[in-house]
Amino acid sequence: MKVLVVGSGAREHAIIWKLKKSNRVSKLYAAPGNAGIANLCDCVNLKADDLEGLKNFALSEDIDLTVVGPEVPLVMGIVDLFKKNNLRIFGPTKSGAEFEGSKSFTKAFLEKYKIPTAKFLEFTSLEAAKEEIDLLGYPLVIKADGLAAGKGVVICQNRHEALEAVHDMMDEKVFGRAGEKVVFEEFLTGIEASVLCFVDGKTIVPMTSAQDYKKAYDGDLGLNTGGMGAYSPSVLFDENLEKHIEEKILKPFIKGTQCEGIDYKGIIFIGLMIKNNEAKVIEFNCRMGDPETQVVLPRMENDLMDVIDACIDGTLDQIVLEWSEEKTVAVVLASGGYPGEYEKHQVIRGLEDVDDVLVFHAGTMNQGNEIVTNGGRVLNVVAKMDNVEAARQKVYENVSKIQYKDMMYRSDIAKL
Ligand code: AMP
Ligand code: GLY
Repeated sequence: MKVLVVGSGAREHAIIWKLKKSNRVSKLYAAPGNAGIANLCDCVNLKADDLEGLKNFALSEDIDLTVVGPEVPLVMGIVDLFKKNNLRIFGPTKSGAEFEGSKSFTKAFLEKYKIPTAKFLEFTSLEAAKEEIDLLGYPLVIKADGLAAGKGVVICQNRHEALEAVHDMMDEKVFGRAGEKVVFEEFLTGIEASVLCFVDGKTIVPMTSAQDYKKAYDGDLGLNTGGMGAYSPSVLFDENLEKHIEEKILKPFIKGTQCEGIDYKGIIFIGLMIKNNEAKVIEFNCRMGDPETQVVLPRMENDLMDVIDACIDGTLDQIVLEWSEEKTVAVVLASGGYPGEYEKHQVIRGLEDVDDVLVFHAGTMNQGNEIVTNGGRVLNVVAKMDNVEAARQKVYENVSKIQYKDMMYRSDIAKL
């Protein structure tokens, strides 16, 4: 089979690494890929949001399957476009991707199907938002409705900060159209964890759990980022919690999509807040997590192609997912200044010196004979060992062999 993977992050590098192990895959392409992905397959110079370009490439190269990594093409409707052209593709349609594309859509769905989540209010006018600003108390979580590259959530400690946040979103339009509608949410306390699930329209199967570290600095300080590291499985999970999640979240999710006429196929990523062995949904994403994928796929023992086929063909009930007993830890190496401003094109050294770890590339590119930085998150170093502490040590031993100017990373990932 000829497979095209859309995206250019460490998540896509991990997906390609895993697909490459399948003897059913004869040829792999990535669009646009990065320097690490280029070592595994052909990179095509098409951006992830160039839906027409991707469709034309898939048609002209007789691609048998396209796997979509990031949310933007899904929310734009890449799956609908490919299906219209009789191209096989893995991911939800535009209507399914609304779970990530609109917070207000998701909150209404959660409420309708009685899935535990934070109390909320939504507004399309600044005046109405200001009038009810104190209603849910403080801290208050204010969210831009649409996609905002992970930056559209503000946790406001007081009325002053809340007024500033709604003003920025609705008046200044700092997130463009994404902020035309805003959602206020009650602030939840607890520990966050992510559950990624495969879905085939009728059956939902959770993968092993993972825990992401979202804040920029050690001790969970600093701004929210895309994720600075992860480990799997999460220590929070046990049989009781898994049962609770299945009954209260997964079953109503699939029933709800069916009642709403959404034929949801692909991945649903469920961001949870866990407290007292109970989970509430913070968010849904319509794609795999980054960096969660980088710790989950190395533990997966199934052929990923078989699972993807089962999702598309509606036969997921026949698949049993199997996971290695070993534990994984991923540490993200970022560019100094991330998630704010940072410099690009710094030469990366030491990649050839690492051993016993996987290095998944994110923002990297080839420049002459060198690999240089090309984004905020640059590399993921991943180890798989008998226990989390051993994996953690192995990762950090190898991190110290890699250098580039202003390299930044957290030193407390998976410190349990
Ligand atoms: P979201 O994009 O909705 O996942 O929000 C991004 C991050 O903001 C989450 O990962 C949480 O750390 C935080 N967050 C979002 N909603 C809430 C909430 N209701 N209570 C506490 N923290 C939240
Ligand atoms: N790691 C969080 C996300 O992928 O959205």
